[in-house]
Amino acid sequence: MGTGEQQAPVITIDGPSGVGKGTIAQLLARELGWHMLDSGALYRLVALGAARQGIPLDDETALADYAARLPVEFRAGEGATHGLAIYLDGEAVGDAIRTEECGAGASRVAALPGVRAALLARQRAFRRPPGLVADGRDMGTTVFPDAPLKIFLTASAEERARRRYKQLKEKGIDVSLAALLEEITERDTRDSQRSASPLVPADDALRIDTTSMTIDEVLQTVKQAAAPLFAPRD
Ligand code: DC
Repeated sequence: MGTGEQQAPVITIDGPSGVGKGTIAQLLARELGWHMLDSGALYRLVALGAARQGIPLDDETALADYAARLPVEFRAGEGATHGLAIYLDGEAVGDAIRTEECGAGASRVAALPGVRAALLARQRAFRRPPGLVADGRDMGTTVFPDAPLKIFLTASAEERARRRYKQLKEKGIDVSLAALLEEITERDTRDSQRSASPLVPADDALRIDTTSMTIDEVLQTVKQAAAPLFAPRD
């Protein structure tokens, strides 16, 4: 087998927009003391950086080239989401990449195979001892197909729109629930119908419908599924 890095365990958490993957992945990583990969942030960073550099969102070659040299840094400390603050070209962009506009741009660049290929090695480099919790759309199918535990979270589009609405409201951002639902449905279609790494559960993923579950109930279910990873071997 490969190096220690390749052997570090990975728990993949995939699912559609607004299902709560980020929250669950962050809580789990914190409890386990593992590293965390928010892969959606990388696609959001490509979209944000491209907009700032004037790269059109349909220029696959230029976008892939930019993704390959993405000037991003994840630093522990102030203003951190998912435990790390995100800097693009030295500027903190933790909030800038969370806008709905940036999410829509991310969904477009994520449909381009060249961009996905350019981000592959960067994502795999997050796999380090003692382990990694990776959140995204294709963590279990493409990026870490050998992960010992794969989770696929779902929830109805209405419930996901409600959760996003509540989250944005709490941040003081005013949006309409109907507009959010429409965006979520559009993004679902684009993410699940694209030919490059579409949003589908890995065959060996544990599927959890979170529509009527609390965050804590989902976390407990995932932790139960993860328990065998930590069982002493004889
Ligand atoms: O999870 P998120 O909303 O931050 O993701 C933003 C976009 O990036 C989303 O529309 C789908 C895409 N994405 C992807 O294609 N593959 C991933 N592993 C993560 C995100």
